[in-house]
Amino acid sequence: MSKLLIHGAKKLQGEVNIHGAKNSTLPLMAASLVCGGKCILHNCPSLSDVDTSERILNHLGCRVKRSDGDIEIDPTSADGYNIPDDLMREMRSSIIFLGAIVARMGKAILSYPGGCELGPRPIDLHLMALRRMGVIINEDHGSLNCVVPNGLHGAVISLSFPSVGATENILIAAVLAEGTTVINNAAREPEICDLADFLNSCGAKIRGAGESTVTIEGVKRLSGCEHRVIPDRIAAATYLAAGAATGSTLTVSDIIPKHLEPIVPVLEESGCVLKTNGNKMTIIPPKRLHRVKSIRTMPYPGFPTDAQAPIMAMLSVADGTSVFVENIFESRYKHVGELLRLGANIKVEGRVAIVDGVEKLSGASVEATDLRGGAALVVAGLTAYGTTEISGLNHLDRGYENLERNLRNLGADVKRI
Ligand code: EPZ
Repeated sequence: MSKLLIHGAKKLQGEVNIHGAKNSTLPLMAASLVCGGKCILHNCPSLSDVDTSERILNHLGCRVKRSDGDIEIDPTSADGYNIPDDLMREMRSSIIFLGAIVARMGKAILSYPGGCELGPRPIDLHLMALRRMGVIINEDHGSLNCVVPNGLHGAVISLSFPSVGATENILIAAVLAEGTTVINNAAREPEICDLADFLNSCGAKIRGAGESTVTIEGVKRLSGCEHRVIPDRIAAATYLAAGAATGSTLTVSDIIPKHLEPIVPVLEESGCVLKTNGNKMTIIPPKRLHRVKSIRTMPYPGFPTDAQAPIMAMLSVADGTSVFVENIFESRYKHVGELLRLGANIKVEGRVAIVDGVEKLSGASVEATDLRGGAALVVAGLTAYGTTEISGLNHLDRGYENLERNLRNLGADVKRI
């Protein structure tokens, strides 16, 4: 099993080009199933989750061609309607294919997505919404058997929580449904807007994406389109946190600054200066990071839960106590135990994590147990004195493209063994 070896406490410098967003690429690949022609996605990251989505599309009968950052999907001969258990287990977010398969095939058989390291990942909002749109869903022994006897029809759907995945499933199912669908309390993440832009480029009629109320007027059929995936705001946040943690001035490029607005105030409160210039953002950290009084993860445009772990790693060497409240997932502090092994001083009480900044971290062998927790260990390893060995790289490879190459280009002493 490969590991990452980091000799830390080295200054970084330079610029890193941010890859396309994983959490946009995955729903866009699912959405191609409702298109009536070939779709070409540009700026897609090469990540294992994207590979898994490609395997699911192939299994459903799509023709998929990938070259560098481009994915060409021809769904015209797709006639599958089930996703095998192994593929469902490989990627929890495969549930995002449910709306697309049901919309295209009028039926679907999926197994329940496994829980993941962030705790149970319920899909009650997804199922409630699709049932309101005319899907009959039988859940037995961990599998979902869906049929749509009278076709999908529009509905008014109020989400008790602005779930990203549920919003995406509804959008994809609604574009070809009979009539109009209204989503109340929809997720507002940039990835929702990216999905709506893609579908509208194919002829869909979606209004209000990015706001809490989204209206979709069903159409008879969609064409294909070409679309460039938005940059990965969480990858950008991770590299910025690495710069802050190592006291290095560095630049992330090919980003959309607006998407980083929820993170900027936290970086500024820690004493960093952020300079934006077009699609680049440069971070200039202080000699010693200051603590950040409180960081509450919230749905967009609040502070993103996916940035909680990398920012915690950065603040573990700040001067003073920072308090995190994780409001989105019920157990997203798995990385704390590993940060303690590196010398951090963090106390977890339920959804609250109290981070007492220490002077410095010291290298140790640690294990990534989820994607963003793994990113936190990389950020911590870059600032830690001595050598840090990180295992569990399969988690990191799901969400960070060319991680060690990018870090080496920034001057880090990191290699995969
Ligand atoms: C998406 O997951 C992202 N994944 C996650 O990123 C991200 O953390 C999350 O949105 C929040 O921003 C992808 O886009 C592939 P949710 P998703 O539905 O859609 C509860 C990463 O690291 N909920 O908004 O699963 C749920 O339990 C990943 O890149 C229900 O209760 O997130 C959670 O507490 C991790 N019932 C909260 O809502 C439901 O039916 C947020 O979930 C659905 C969700």
